Amino acid sequence: MKIAIILGTRPEIIKMSPLIRECENRGIDYYILHTGQHYSFEMDKVFFNDLKLPVPKYNLDVGSGLHGEQTAKMISGIEKILIQDTPDVVFVQGDTNTVLAGALAASKLHVMIGHVEAGLRSFDRSMPEEINRIVADHISDYLFAPTEHSKKYLLAEGIPEEKIFVTGNTVVDAIYQNLEISKETRHTLSELNMKKDEYFLTTVHRAENTDKKERLSSILTGFEQIYQAFSLPIIFPAHPRTVKKIREFDLKIPDGTKLIEPIGYLDFLQLEGDAKLILTDSGGLQEEGCILGVPCITLRDNTERPETVDVGANVIAGVNSNITQLAKEMTDSATSWNNPYGRGNAAELIIDKILG
Ligand code: UD1
Ligand code: UDP
Repeated sequence: MKIAIILGTRPEIIKMSPLIRECENRGIDYYILHTGQHYSFEMDKVFFNDLKLPVPKYNLDVGSGLHGEQTAKMISGIEKILIQDTPDVVFVQGDTNTVLAGALAASKLHVMIGHVEAGLRSFDRSMPEEINRIVADHISDYLFAPTEHSKKYLLAEGIPEEKIFVTGNTVVDAIYQNLEISKETRHTLSELNMKKDEYFLTTVHRAENTDKKERLSSILTGFEQIYQAFSLPIIFPAHPRTVKKIREFDLKIPDGTKLIEPIGYLDFLQLEGDAKLILTDSGGLQEEGCILGVPCITLRDNTERPETVDVGANVIAGVNSNITQLAKEMTDSATSWNNPYGRGNAAELIIDKILG
């Protein structure tokens, strides 16, 4: 049994890390194929360092660009590698262009595909991620759904039940494997001059929020209102895409918002776990807040993570709502919800299924 793990962006490196560890621990023949969709040190290499992951056997270095061009370069590069270093199974994770390319290349070569984090749906086809997820799910052989909810969506789309396995989300494994290491080795809060529960944490990077000046500006205005209401800083490790757009649109960072470079996973886990509230459009942060017991406000009009809303950990705010009122409600409410994303053994279950 040979496995190819295809990844390309920050969240894929983090959420694939438990699978990589599982392959290492069980002595499985596997390799990592990095598309190079993310390439800046703080979006890529820092995670290989923090999570002690092996250097990918292949890196396509495709870099950024228009979706078609970027995805085409990936498909072409992945195809060549899968032909010369043929695996029995290819793993892709999530909903990025890397996932779309990996799944398409493998399906044309009749290599089995395992889609990790299958069955998420925002029901918003204007999002590139929604298209990527749907295509990947429909051409995969093993669909590793994080929850019963995502399994239901897959069944409703006619995917046969025997292909779907509810495993939990590997993000829980990643948190459990790294939280203690983070606490023992990092002093992120003191380095940033922050105190537990005395700051908000935000990240923004979605195309729908960064590419439109009005939406991005509205988000920043919301941060200003929150600072006025709470007098607490908002720490903002900003994705390079967002920094670029803030500059291009000539937007002002409001008082109280502290823009910093993106940071590594071990530091970020501390920043997340000790925040009073998370404000984000990230998929991973909605899940991690829910797992770490930190409430979240989602700066989008929908979510493909409804489980977080159902347990009371998350609220969908869009970018024009009364953010201060929502922040008050979320910070005042109890945080004793149950984590809907499993016990932290998703990678073990996934590898068991593949080997079985
Ligand atoms: C991608 C995924 C998104 C995921 C996100 C995780 C797609 C369509 N989008 O969005 O689903 O949530 O990754 O972070 O696959 N850039 C750099 N350095 C990097 C990477 C990007 O400077 O290492 C800048 C470039 O200006 C680039 C822009 O960010 O044009 C966007 O990068 P891209 O990979 O196209 O999309 P993301 O917004 O990162
Ligand atoms: N993350 C990080 N440092 C940061 C911002 C995010 O380590 O400065 C991690 C975060 O813990 C989560 C993942 O990156 O695991 C989320 O990635 P992102 O928001 O880019 O993508 P999404 O989850 O929306 O696809």
